[in-house]
Amino acid sequence: MTTNTNDSNASILSGTSVLPELPVLSETFRIGGDLPVRRIGYGSMRLADGPGDPTGPEARIWTAPADRAAAVRLLRTAAEAGVTLFDTADAYALGAGEELLAEALAPYRDEVAVATKVGVVRPSPTEWVPLGHPAYLRQQAELSLRRLRTERIDLLYLHRLDENVPVAEQVGALRRLQEEGKVRHIGLSEVTVAQLTEAEAVAPVAAVQNLYNLAARDHEAVLEHTAGRGIAFVPFFPIAMGGHTDPEGPVAAVAREVGATPSQTALAWLLHRAPHVLPIPGTSSEHHLKENLGALDVRLTDEQFARLSAVPAS
Ligand SMILES: NC(=O)c1ccc[n+]([C@@H]2O[C@H](COP(=O)([O-])OP(=O)(O)OC[C@H]3O[C@@H](n4cnc5c(N)ncnc54)[C@H](OP(=O)(O)O)[C@@H]3O)[C@@H](O)[C@H]2O)c1
Repeated sequence: MTTNTNDSNASILSGTSVLPELPVLSETFRIGGDLPVRRIGYGSMRLADGPGDPTGPEARIWTAPADRAAAVRLLRTAAEAGVTLFDTADAYALGAGEELLAEALAPYRDEVAVATKVGVVRPSPTEWVPLGHPAYLRQQAELSLRRLRTERIDLLYLHRLDENVPVAEQVGALRRLQEEGKVRHIGLSEVTVAQLTEAEAVAPVAAVQNLYNLAARDHEAVLEHTAGRGIAFVPFFPIAMGGHTDPEGPVAAVAREVGATPSQTALAWLLHRAPHVLPIPGTSSEHHLKENLGALDVRLTDEQFARLSAVPAS
């Protein structure tokens, strides 16, 4: 793979280069100011099974993966390859996702951060229903602690705000867990700037996880707001559920120019977008996992970044 990496950056810094100036990207970000993670994490949602199509937006995410040994191997490969931020939720396979991560990552527990989420119930394989009653959030956090086999959750997101419960009560429940030492950092998922501002009045918010990629940019305002406040912005569906991996797709031309794969290029766009952006691509393939981590070595020029920014929503 040909990438504009350290050598060219070094010559730019020494003033000897005639190449266009390329940004020097930081590989890490400190969540909440004190939890350093590499900027490409791993989203584990799809390490699950269920009835029906296992891919795309309709995937059920209902039971533990049929091939548990393969899932454990993949998670350990991720840790060995340098992934330090793993993402799950109590709603993924009704808690089986958290149990899987606890088992697989036990040998690496001091080296990696595990983020989970509470606040969504799954009455059936096709339903994801927000439920923000403070007593329920507390109970779920206690169950997450057990399943993750830990005394403190590194990063606990409110999976969705429940419109039937005041924001202050929902975030207040997480705040109390933090005060009790059961939660290190608090995050929110799929929120607007107004909701985030309301939450910040109740508790320090360390991360926001919203749907975002180069062709799904509805949350630009949230990205900007978090940038100025040291809050991690964690885009989910960072490669559009696989939509940006097509060798003939909208990312392909720039990918060829930088000598990277489309997936790496789509992730590089996110890394280039701002230093607090921490994509969490998901994959069931070791090859794809390592490929995605390679995005940390890909540099885009501002012109290439702008061209990718113009890719229409699919
Ligand atoms: N907060 C929320 O409400 C929310 C909602 C949805 C998701 N999430 C989080 O976001 C994470 C990421 O979402 P996602 O996994 O659904 O979408 P994604 O990361 O955008 O895309 C994953 C899909 O892309 C494919 N893929 C990954 N790397 C590839 C590569 N290098 N080449 C070709 N195909 C590749 C995967 O298939 P293969 O298995 O074949 O590689 C998989 O089908 C989830 O795991 C979850 O942790 C959060």
